[in-house]
Amino acid sequence: MHRLPLVQSRSAVYEDWPVRPDDFDAIPLLRDSRGRRYTYLRLSVTDRCDLACVYCMPPSGEDEHAIRRDLLTFEEAARLVSVFALAGIRRVRFTGGEPLVRKDIVRLVELVHRRTDVEQLVMTTNATRLSELARPLRDAGLFGVNVSIDTLDAARFAELTRGGDLGRVLAGIHAAIDVGLDVKLNTVPLRGRNDDELQRIVDFAWSLGVAPRFIELMPLGEGAKLPQDMRMNAADVLEVLGECVSQEAPQGIEGQGPARYMTAADGSGHRVGFITPISNEFCDTCNRVRVTARGDIRACLASRRAISLRNIMRAGGSDIDLAWAMVWSLTGKDRGHHFLEPEEHEHERVGMSLIGG
Ligand code: GTP
Ligand code: 5AD
Ligand code: SF4
Repeated sequence: MHRLPLVQSRSAVYEDWPVRPDDFDAIPLLRDSRGRRYTYLRLSVTDRCDLACVYCMPPSGEDEHAIRRDLLTFEEAARLVSVFALAGIRRVRFTGGEPLVRKDIVRLVELVHRRTDVEQLVMTTNATRLSELARPLRDAGLFGVNVSIDTLDAARFAELTRGGDLGRVLAGIHAAIDVGLDVKLNTVPLRGRNDDELQRIVDFAWSLGVAPRFIELMPLGEGAKLPQDMRMNAADVLEVLGECVSQEAPQGIEGQGPARYMTAADGSGHRVGFITPISNEFCDTCNRVRVTARGDIRACLASRRAISLRNIMRAGGSDIDLAWAMVWSLTGKDRGHHFLEPEEHEHERVGMSLIGG
């Protein structure tokens, strides 16, 4: 088992740290006070995006975009991942905004791959730049990509993404499959916007041999502003898909994301995933911790509670300081997201693109 290195002197950065044992060697793996264990890091590399999906990004972008010096440098990001790995993180997902708009993203993936021993590096992307980058990303050590695609109709795609080019996304998906990246598709079902296409999206994904996943719209940022009747939960999607999905209970995949999968009724072995934060909250098995593009650690997607790991590093903090900030962040993590109690908890939430989903 990995242990964090023993350090002799305490950093002055957090002199009055609440729980700092003298025996630094005994730093625990990442757990929270409810016993949840953390093995999966979502690392946002930018809060910018070249698209502006109606449920994610305001039409003119977020007003709080990080400027360059706010962002974690590649060295800082790689250092953080190595400390997370020592504290038990096994899988890292690069997120955004759109991660592929971060300059030299391939170099970052390569650096993280070379410097750390996490088991799997993956990315969530809109795929507009994937046709050029799929091969270099794979060569840099990326295992797979989850690609967001909410419609297969070019005009509708341009509308839902405010200007996106569906052709480029499809080319990106094909390129990723061709170079052997593990690919999954993400769709947010929206009544009146793409609910007549859900079966087509499933057929499209299955024809490529990849799994489509349907994500219940979360009331965060722009998503909270869409009309209530646009929201669809997993049961609504299953009703649309009808008989093509087997009736067996959905299965989770141990140690990974929150999706639960059902299989095709025709015995082909194809799968369809459901991510159900609203109709079937999965917070009691949460294994994910987030770092924003500015280097804030956030224990939950639905909470503003954060601490700047970047500032700790820039103030000369040690790896132990970073590890304890991680532990501190998780110690106060709430039971769940409170998405169903909108009024009381609205102030806790920021848009998805500022956290990385
Ligand atoms: P896999 O590990 O490949 O299953 O990926 P993933 O589903 O964890 O990652 P992805 O970035 O593709 O996320 C799909 C959707 O799940 C996005 O809308 C995320 O915001 C959402 N999601 C991922 N993790 C969590 C989580 O811990 N809580 C909530 N509420 N949503 C999450
Ligand atoms: N609710 C659910 N999913 C969302 N995504 C972005 N915003 C929301 C939201 N409010 C999805 C994107 C992408 C993933 C990172 O998160 O479609 O697939
Ligand atoms: Fe974990 Fe928060 Fe997501 Fe729930 S909403 S699964 S606690 S990150």
